[in-house]
Amino acid sequence: MAQSDDMSLLTGAIGRQRDIYLKGIAGYKPSVPVDYAELEARAAEHMSPEAYAYVAGGAGNERTIDANQQAFERWRIVPRMLRDVSALDTRVELFGRTLASPILLCPIGVAEMAHRDADLAAARACAAEGVPMIFSNQASRPMEECAAVMGDSPRWFQLYWSKSRELVKSLVQRAERCGCDAIVVTLDTTMLGWRTRDLDLAYLPFLRGRGIAQYTSDPVFLESLNHLEDGGAPRPPINLATLKTLAQQLQNYSGNALEGLTSGKARAAVQQFISVYSKPDLTWEDLAYLREITPLPIILKGILHPDDARAALDHGIDGIVVSNHGGRQVDGAIATLDALSPIVDAVGGKLTIIMDSGIRGGAHVFKALALGADAVGLGRPWVYGLAINGEAGVREVLQNLKVDFELTMGLSGCRSIGEIGADCLSLAP
Ligand SMILES: Cc1cc2nc3c(=O)[nH]c(=O)nc-3n(C[C@H](O)[C@H](O)[C@H](O)COP(=O)(O)O)c2cc1C
Repeated sequence: MAQSDDMSLLTGAIGRQRDIYLKGIAGYKPSVPVDYAELEARAAEHMSPEAYAYVAGGAGNERTIDANQQAFERWRIVPRMLRDVSALDTRVELFGRTLASPILLCPIGVAEMAHRDADLAAARACAAEGVPMIFSNQASRPMEECAAVMGDSPRWFQLYWSKSRELVKSLVQRAERCGCDAIVVTLDTTMLGWRTRDLDLAYLPFLRGRGIAQYTSDPVFLESLNHLEDGGAPRPPINLATLKTLAQQLQNYSGNALEGLTSGKARAAVQQFISVYSKPDLTWEDLAYLREITPLPIILKGILHPDDARAALDHGIDGIVVSNHGGRQVDGAIATLDALSPIVDAVGGKLTIIMDSGIRGGAHVFKALALGADAVGLGRPWVYGLAINGEAGVREVLQNLKVDFELTMGLSGCRSIGEIGADCLSLAP
């Protein structure tokens, strides 16, 4: 990570605060709540029970979600005074690109459950705010559509390594053509976690044909449908609900709907997705294949153990995302902020380190950076902004986080990202 020399003024932060307060004089309040608990509650009102459960929920008793928050509480910021914080520089450099702030948009699948514009709204918001977007492998819109509205704003692609190497290659090549700066391989989802809320609603969006747009827009995937045999896959009983699901599958099938209906391709696409999407026997050795097929930086998402971080370094990987998938995979897992320090000690400076899971405000960004992260990923909050107000909602959430971070930095006596270090924190008594 490096920084550039000239400084930007604090106008962004002051401007946003002033806007909100001035509008308040005319009787307006932010439509997207600034407070996180309010944001989540308001978003829930805009989402179906299934959508809200899918986004908010975690694995098992959801103790990992709690742990992510508790870990932030254990650290306290110790502000320093009289340091001339009139000019603040929040920029960081990641993989040769200078970013306005150390914040990226986490890849989140099935965004259509929050808003019909889904990934497209997020892509526009990211481009407007200069925040890199990580396209999800489980997106609701093909990466090409998103890239087309982003100009030259940075974007990365998140890959779920499927059983088909041809499909992996095709997705990676599409990402290259879409101008992605990096490939993020998510490692922690070889199987779907035990998601209590979704199980109680008996709802999995993928079975409805949702969140599979990267597949149904992929030539290798579509070609594979021609050779699909109905291997006696278990079928649900036929009733009104089953027919509704079939209609949803058709709606999400990117080909001709009539063809999808008559040939059964929409159902076949869902079935084929289920059979290829994950490769539980993936190992470190497979990564060499990715190195062979792309010159882009490779980032591993889901690293929590320092030995795995060291292994990433040994395998020529460029970066890692210290992540527990927002507590959606292993109940009772280590909080990412707790995992961060040992990983930084093991590989800091040699690998780019991004941290996600639990970032809910500027102080969280500050603490993660102070403990050695180069940047952070924002997850659920952007989906809540999307649910409330589409593209504008995502923009507001991003603006609020950027400003909150900038103010936290300045009020703590740090003028640039490089000045944020472990000496800015103290363990809570
Ligand atoms: C609804 C939902 C869908 C997600 N889909 C993906 C995905 O497709 N690929 C991925 O790598 N991570 C996915 N994640 C994990 C996020 O990228 C990120 O790690 C997590 O949301 C961070 O935790 P937080 O939301 O608590 O901040 C998803 C998370 C949520 C909440």
